[in-house]
Amino acid sequence: MPASPPSRLPAHDEAAREIAQLSAEIRAHDARYYQQDAPSISDAQYDALRRRLEVLERQFPDLVTPDSPTRKVGAAPAEGFGKLRHSTPMLSLDNAFSAEDVREWDARVRDYLKLAAEDELAYVSEPKIDGLSFTARYENGRLVQGATRGDGEVGEDITANLSTILPLTLQNHPPSVLEVRGEVYMSHADFAALNAGRPEGEKFANPRNAAAGSLRQLDPEITRARALSYFVYGWGEVSAALADTQYACIAQLRRFGFRVLIAAHDGAGSLLQLSSVAALIQEYEAVQQHRAQLPFDIDGMVYKVDRLDYQARLGFKARSPRWAIAHKFPAEQAVTTVEAIEIQVGRTGALTPVARLTPITVGGVVVSNATLHNEDEIVRKDVRVGDRVIIQRAGDV
Ligand code: IVH
Repeated sequence: MPASPPSRLPAHDEAAREIAQLSAEIRAHDARYYQQDAPSISDAQYDALRRRLEVLERQFPDLVTPDSPTRKVGAAPAEGFGKLRHSTPMLSLDNAFSAEDVREWDARVRDYLKLAAEDELAYVSEPKIDGLSFTARYENGRLVQGATRGDGEVGEDITANLSTILPLTLQNHPPSVLEVRGEVYMSHADFAALNAGRPEGEKFANPRNAAAGSLRQLDPEITRARALSYFVYGWGEVSAALADTQYACIAQLRRFGFRVLIAAHDGAGSLLQLSSVAALIQEYEAVQQHRAQLPFDIDGMVYKVDRLDYQARLGFKARSPRWAIAHKFPAEQAVTTVEAIEIQVGRTGALTPVARLTPITVGGVVVSNATLHNEDEIVRKDVRVGDRVIIQRAGDV
């Protein structure tokens, strides 16, 4: 199945029709994902729709409407929750799908900052956690307000829910106003335990849906009963600057008492300062190899310009900062758990070991088992029940 819609370019009125149809489709998927916590297509399919819309809008700028999904973030807050207007907008990230895309981004950043290719430019790299973004406001070191991203301007008031997950009071003299931003997620172990206790038909499809369904509860006691975790990766309004670089700011936030991605777990996948695109790509590949061992789902890496004065000069586009980019993992790969290993007897009597997997969507297709070819390979790879494995789709499955 192709990962993206056809890429040919239509004539003007045909483009207008396709733009209207893609916009409506993306809006409907946004509502299912952000408001109902029940997406009906894979992230890769969604990204492909967005990319097609971006291509058309670049080619036909006169057809871009102010309410186009390419200029908007997420979806409006759901009914039932109070609404909170963000003091600074909560934006999204542009995506890179290849090392080439990352090199082009680096070139754009340098061009914007008038830096030559050989001038020093430090980045931070960190995993892109597949959870739910939140913002939390602390005044005089106390949690006073928390919200979902919503449409980027106005989110849902989930103060009571977040107060079951985040620190209620901070340490080490934070600024009197401090808004932190981050991602709430559910670890694999907590997801498995939650689903084990739920009847068939009411199980969550993946940790992200479980986290979203647990956080966006009108009754915060339900949130409290669910094991949710979080990482802080940024900030909104602050009454005093935290530091001069992204890395040093995150280190400060850790001192105030937040969980951050600095030395968050052993091996790859922590917040790192890196000084070349080659180093970013090397880290991307290391984390991609290691991702099945991480205790939570990630769907790529995020790179950010480290110096805050550079970030300020680069600023923002309609829905994303120029100083950051998400480098996504390939759509043909996903991580899941081996539930059982069984021996299949073929028509000719040949024996093939098959891994039964927790069903997972890979490139738009639900995969629930994988042949392991022969016993030697199982021994060589040491595949065991309960292991987290990376599934790579080859062709049509
Ligand atoms: S930075 C200005 N860092 O990805 C926006 N986002 O696709 C800065 N996300 O809305 C976002 N992990 O919810 C950032 N390490 C990370 C992240 C991360 C996950 C989410 C976040 C954002 C979405 C954009």
